[in-house]
Amino acid sequence: RSSCVIAPSILSADFARLGAEVDAVIAAGAEWVHFDVMDNHYVPNLTIGPLVCAALRKHGVTAPIDVHLMVKPVDRIIPDFADAGASLISFHPEASEHIDRSIQLIHASGCKAGLVFNPATPLGYLDHVLDQLDLVLIMSVNPGFGGQSFLPSALDKLRRVRELIDRSGRDIRLEIDGGVKVDNIAEIARAGADTFVAGSAIFGKPDYAAVIAAMKAAVAQ
Ligand code: DX5
Ligand code: ZN
Repeated sequence: RSSCVIAPSILSADFARLGAEVDAVIAAGAEWVHFDVMDNHYVPNLTIGPLVCAALRKHGVTAPIDVHLMVKPVDRIIPDFADAGASLISFHPEASEHIDRSIQLIHASGCKAGLVFNPATPLGYLDHVLDQLDLVLIMSVNPGFGGQSFLPSALDKLRRVRELIDRSGRDIRLEIDGGVKVDNIAEIARAGADTFVAGSAIFGKPDYAAVIAAMKAAVAQ
């Protein structure tokens, strides 16, 4: 299994001090920055776009920026995020007219590509594209808001995707997003996840390093 990645979701950061918040979670041991893009159309909330991603790069952030697109349409924002310094770009299959084309566009823009599964999205969307993906993201909440509770149905989904990834023999990260906490991350890791998004669990606590260390210890146990 590839090594554990903690990806704090900046949705729960203090946006008035975003550069400092990202510096703080990276200094606290996080590997990636999870960047939630919501459009008030595909999901009922509105967040941040390529300008903010570019501002983080200009600020000096060098960690991988893991862009989670919750937007429809998908394709026209992809080159903008690539130009803004995104490292990985993931999208929801229901939001794309042509899933294969969106994946190709992400790769042609120089980024890694991920496909995101809502709690009720069937895994059949992986059938013809798994070998083109760099990441599969399983949502353990319905997308749109931070601070929701982990839906246990995600565990079975993780186990099924872990099996598909292992069978493929390819280096594909398996990411979980929504309601991840210190007290459930071990079970989530056992179900097959290797990449863990956490928003409120990290930014809601005063000591980011303590939370991230506790998460890593739980994953390693
Ligand atoms: C939800 C977002 C998540 C969210 C996670 O639509 O994709 O990344 O910020 O927040 P927590 O960890 O608080 O559930
Ligand atoms: Zn997310």
